[in-house]
Amino acid sequence: MTINGKTVVCIGGSGGMGRGVAQAALELGADVIVTSRSQQKADQAAKQLGCRAEIIDIYDDKSVSDFFDRIGHFSHLMITAGAVGRSSFSETPPDEADRFMQGKVWGTHRCIWHAKDRMNQDGSITLITGGYSQIIDDKAGHVHTAFKAMEAMAQVAAVSLAPIRCNVIRPGFIDSDLWSGMTDEERDQLRNTEREKTMIGRIVEPVEFGRFAVALMQTPVVTGAVIPVDGGRHLSVAR
Ligand SMILES: NC(=O)c1ccc[n+]([C@@H]2O[C@H](COP(=O)([O-])OP(=O)(O)OC[C@H]3O[C@@H](n4cnc5c(N)ncnc54)[C@H](OP(=O)(O)O)[C@@H]3O)[C@@H](O)[C@H]2O)c1
Repeated sequence: MTINGKTVVCIGGSGGMGRGVAQAALELGADVIVTSRSQQKADQAAKQLGCRAEIIDIYDDKSVSDFFDRIGHFSHLMITAGAVGRSSFSETPPDEADRFMQGKVWGTHRCIWHAKDRMNQDGSITLITGGYSQIIDDKAGHVHTAFKAMEAMAQVAAVSLAPIRCNVIRPGFIDSDLWSGMTDEERDQLRNTEREKTMIGRIVEPVEFGRFAVALMQTPVVTGAVIPVDGGRHLSVAR
C-alpha cells in the first residue's frame, strides 16, 4: 500500500510533528493538506512545503465540521493539534484542567467524528500522545490522564471504525515551537537533558517522526497499536 496520490490530512501541519508528517508524505507523492488556526500560518506552511492549506480550530465544532465539508473524501488523517501544558492534578481546578482535556481528548474525538464518513475504507487515523502516558506524577496529572484516554480512544476507534485503522504514536521530546515560550537557556537545557535520556544519543527530528507516521499509514496490518518513536527515551523512564 502506498500513499502516492492519496490525500493525507495533517491537522496541526503548520508546525512541529504535523509539518514533519506533511513533508514525509509529500516526499512519497501524496496530496497533502496542512492546517492552522490562522489562514496566514496555514498559507505560509503550505507555500514552503508545496501543498494545500486549510484552517481549523479543533475546539470549535462548526470549524471542524466545515473543514471536513470543504475537503471532501480522503485517505489518511494525522492529528497532532491540541492543547498542551502540564498541570498539577492536586492544584488545578477542574475548569482549568478541562481546557487541556477539551483540546487534547475531545478536540481529537471531534476530528474523528466529523472525518469518519469521509474517509476511504483503506485509510488510517494516527493520533499522538507522548512520554507522559507512561509517567504517573502529580505535576503532570492531567497530561497523563489525557494521553491514556487518547490511547484508549484510538483502540476504540480501531474497533468501531474498522476497516479504517487507528494507531497512536508516542513521541519523546521533539524540538518544535511547542517550546517557544522558554528562554534560550531553558530550551538548551531541555535539549541536553532529553538528548542524554535517549538511547540513540540524539533527539528525533520532526521529519523522522513524519517518516515513521507515513510508514504506519502505508502498513495495512497494523491497527490499535501504540508505538513509541522517541529514540528509546521511554526506556530511561522504565529503568
Ligand atoms: N514537541 C514535543 O516534544 C512533544 C512531546 C510529546 C508530545 N507532544 C504532543 O504533540 C503535540 C504536537 O506537538 P508539536 O511539537 O508538533 O507542537 P507545535 O509545533 O506547537 O504544533 C502544534 C500544531 O497544532 C496546531 N494547533 C494547536 N492548537 C490547535 C487547535 N486548537 N486547533 C487546531 N490546530 C491547533 C498548531 O497550529 P497553529 O498554532 O498554527 O494554529 C500547530 O500546527 C502536542 O500537542 C503535544 O501534546 C509533543
